[in-house]
Amino acid sequence: MRALLIIPALCGVLLTYNTGLNNAVVFKFTNVICESYNTSWFVFHNCRLKAVSRNKVLLNINGTVLHPAYDITLHAQMFKRANGYKPWLFDLKFDGCQYMRHRSIPFANLVFGLFKEFSNFNHTCPYMGSQIVKDFYLRYKLLRLPFPTGDYMLTVRWFFDQKMQFDTNVSFMFVEDILRNN
Ligand SMILES: *[C@@H]1O[C@H](CO)[C@@H](O)[C@H](O)[C@H]1NC(C)=O
Ligand SMILES: *[C@@H]1O[C@H](CO)[C@@H](O)[C@H](O)[C@H]1NC(C)=O
Ligand SMILES: *[C@@H]1O[C@H](CO)[C@@H](O)[C@H](O)[C@H]1NC(C)=O
Ligand SMILES: *[C@@H]1O[C@H](CO)[C@@H](O)[C@H](O)[C@H]1NC(C)=O
Repeated sequence: MRALLIIPALCGVLLTYNTGLNNAVVFKFTNVICESYNTSWFVFHNCRLKAVSRNKVLLNINGTVLHPAYDITLHAQMFKRANGYKPWLFDLKFDGCQYMRHRSIPFANLVFGLFKEFSNFNHTCPYMGSQIVKDFYLRYKLLRLPFPTGDYMLTVRWFFDQKMQFDTNVSFMFVEDILRNN
């Protein structure tokens, strides 16, 4: 049993040295889906991933809010893949305008902390006009939760005036640090 555990760990160490990687964590996007349900209020121009290296994938989203949105609700759900995606860790519905004023929802802080500098969302309501996420990639350093290795999906359904407007669903993979788990 012991030997079985040590051999893969050793291979991991050697692989890490051989490839010169000093970061054995893989944390990257694997898919993104954006869909508007009311194109007279929100339109997507672009919503796509671009792989720039094996472990770095950029997310770009370009959309427009066509009339000012003063009342925004988000429904955010996390899923982990295990024979299909199963609910995992959190399922939250919250007031986006209030959140931007107080930043007091820990899971939202975690997600927003990862992408705020890649977007133009860092302000309070209303939201109007161009909404951009540019070259956003996932950085393990900013993730304060140790995730188990796996495939995940974070879905966010956006409501304006309590009416469903659009979805932004992203999938990502997380592979734990081999060096810390031997
Ligand atoms: C986004 O994910 C939700 C699950 O939370 C699903 O109901 C919805 O259909 C997905 N949206 C799209 C556009 O695939
Ligand atoms: C769709 O957007 C229009 C224009 O802003 C708005 O007046 C209408 O209430 C929205 N409809 C739904 C179902 O969200
Ligand atoms: C977003 O899309 C609009 C419409 O296609 C375009 O005019 C604008 O330049 C794009 N913005 C960015 C930052 O790519
Ligand atoms: C976001 O806005 C807050 C408050 O206005 C500011 O303190 C912070 O530096 C901003 N962060 C980024 C990444 O722009």
